[in-house]
Amino acid sequence: MRLLVAGGAGFIGSNYVRRRLAEHPGDAVVVLDKLTYAGRRENLAGLDELRWELIEADIADREAARAVVEGCDAVVNFAAESHVDRSIEEPGEFITTDVYGTYVLLEAARDAGIRHLQVSTDEVYGDLELGSATEESPLNPSSPYSASKAGGDLLVSAFARTYSAEALIIRASNNYGPRQYPEKLIPLCILNALAGDPLPVYGDGMQVRNWLYVEDCCAAIDTVLERGEPGQAYNVGGPDELPNIEVVRRILALSDRDESLIEYVTDRPGHDRRYSLSAARLEALGWRAAVHFDEGIERTVAWYRDNEWWWEPIRSGEYREYYERQYGKALK
Ligand code: NAD
Ligand code: DAU
Repeated sequence: MRLLVAGGAGFIGSNYVRRRLAEHPGDAVVVLDKLTYAGRRENLAGLDELRWELIEADIADREAARAVVEGCDAVVNFAAESHVDRSIEEPGEFITTDVYGTYVLLEAARDAGIRHLQVSTDEVYGDLELGSATEESPLNPSSPYSASKAGGDLLVSAFARTYSAEALIIRASNNYGPRQYPEKLIPLCILNALAGDPLPVYGDGMQVRNWLYVEDCCAAIDTVLERGEPGQAYNVGGPDELPNIEVVRRILALSDRDESLIEYVTDRPGHDRRYSLSAARLEALGWRAAVHFDEGIERTVAWYRDNEWWWEPIRSGEYREYYERQYGKALK
């Protein structure tokens, strides 16, 4: 198969490209990526150059999308603006990429008659006090990020129903693992712990997330790409739900730091309290999460400790300005 992976230079996308090439020796991958701050060639370093290529373009560019889709057998779309805090600061780019860009790619895939798998999020269901969201739960997004992802999802469902497009969705919970940009809680806290900078915890730190190791998410994507039904959504829920403060404590322990580095900071506006997903529909296709948080977080801390070459250019570059804007203080 010749697979188009949009957003394949980002965190989950690049882990997916690695898995796809390793597990499907006959496949070739075309990565379509705009290379925003979150998309990096480094994420694809070390892969066999003969089996993949990178086209640097915007998914919202109709000509580029059409040209890249030609000759491909399926599309997996990871391309998105993905960080909630940035969506609160500046929502416009989220709507352009996550809604309009999704539409452009969907249309190109429909015209080519190929499958389009949209990678979406548990955040479209909004937060839940109790219980777990199923695929039939109402969409109730809270942030500009989750609202734009919900917009993309609605277009996917509409294309499947109206045009019988072979379009379908996965909705994953919070991923973590190697190559995640350090604006997200886990990599940010790991790098701060390694450097001896404070670990910023929003509000009371009791918000709950459903943690999913990135390799389990990538395995779920393959399952749905191969066996999912057009027009359906499939939840990919992680095996463990933990409050943020517990996640931060585990990172400190694995980094040989004490809890004096924890710093409670102003809460995120509109902050969702708890996400939880039921993955029963996907489990019926044979998928199971294999990596529990205890093991996944150990692997993740070890990866960042061993791969300074990957994060040092981020942490010494433009990221420092983002960090100061977001947290009102400089990194060491
Ligand atoms: P990321 O921010 O690390 O990567 C996004 C990638 O998309 C980058 O390579 C970026 O350059 C690219 N991109 C952005 N705008 C683009 C555009 N207009 N055209 C082409 N490429 C563009 O994100 P991630 O964490 O890897 O998330 C990937 C996808 O999975 C997103 O759609 C996100 O909404 C979804 N998701 C993420 C998580 C999570 O926990 N990280 C959980 C559920 C769903
Ligand atoms: O749930 C899936 C979503 O998970 C994805 O769709 C998003 O793309 C991804 O960014 C992630 O969203 P969250 O907002 O849950 O992730 P983040 O890592 O930003 O925050 C996780 C929790 O930690 C959240 O409750 C906010 C909190 N937090 C975050 C940061 C960056 C802090 O307490 N301090 C921080 O500095």
